[in-house]
Amino acid sequence: MTIEAKPEAPAKNLALDLVRVTEAAALASARWLGKGDKNAGDKAAVDAMRLSFNSMDIKGTIIIGEGEKDDAPMLYNGEHVGNGHGISMDIAVDPVDGTNLLAFGRPNAISVVGVAPGGTMYNPGPSYYMQKLVVPAPAKNAVDIDAPVDVNLKSIAKALGKDVDDLIVFVLDKLRHEKLIKKIRSTGARIYLNTDGDVAGALMAADPRSEVDVMIGTGGTPEGVISACAIKAMGGQIFGRLDPQSFVEKEALQEQGVDLREILTVENLIKSDDVFFSATGISGGTFLRGVEYTGAGAITSSMVIRAKTGSMRYIEAHHNWERLMKISSVAYD
Ligand code: FBP
Repeated sequence: MTIEAKPEAPAKNLALDLVRVTEAAALASARWLGKGDKNAGDKAAVDAMRLSFNSMDIKGTIIIGEGEKDDAPMLYNGEHVGNGHGISMDIAVDPVDGTNLLAFGRPNAISVVGVAPGGTMYNPGPSYYMQKLVVPAPAKNAVDIDAPVDVNLKSIAKALGKDVDDLIVFVLDKLRHEKLIKKIRSTGARIYLNTDGDVAGALMAADPRSEVDVMIGTGGTPEGVISACAIKAMGGQIFGRLDPQSFVEKEALQEQGVDLREILTVENLIKSDDVFFSATGISGGTFLRGVEYTGAGAITSSMVIRAKTGSMRYIEAHHNWERLMKISSVAYD
């Protein structure tokens, strides 16, 4: 699953094009906020995202998409996107991270895209779940994925100049994390428990502007790769290890000769510094504001990052329906 490549380097900041892709997905899917239909919200985002990609000067290949071709009619793994004129890029998309957050009107559903030069992005193959530990830049050398939770939290607190009970740990509220949550509570650290959305959790852990200090727990492997695009740019670190949650998943990985003990970091998840990332809020949260429809248009809130320069931009965009309708591929209803 590791690929050696000699990638071409993109000349411009593709993140500034990518933000239009995540904005389009957010604008289309936010109509489904709280309506209880996660597939409809996801489909709206996928359709809008795919259309927007067509305006980008890239030869993109989806490495992390909506799944295999037969299950996912669009943005499936291996699909080519972009107008085919530019350089080859690997693409990771999550049109809606937190489809249930969107469907049930909960915070922190976001739309995200990461791109890296062709052949440099980790391909999860049949892996669905990954154990993750995400820390901000000052704590990136302070932790060990195999160390007990209390030891890691002490080291993170020290690296950040805080006490353990000042920390906020982001954890997905899942049965598999029952013991983990107990252990974190016993250290005195505070916890954000979210039912879904560990891309937002990872971004918050790495982002110095957020009150979250660390994300711990098992979530999606594709989401881990997407998060790595952003973490690489922010200077934090993700320590991951494939963590199959079923016999079938474990067997599929073993059949492919995957080493389940390997520790994955941003360096082997994305083997290039030419990484670009964009996230746009769908449902409002502590991280990015959600889509606000204003009648004549809408306001979106995004974060775009270029890893090579480390530049992070927070973009509030005001969209005007009447003018957009005349020229744009943005899909909304
Ligand atoms: P979806 O948007 O695809 O529903 O994913 C939401 C999510 O919470 C991810 O952020 C996370 O990585 C994964 O699901 C965890 O999977 P599970 O809910 O099966 O534990």
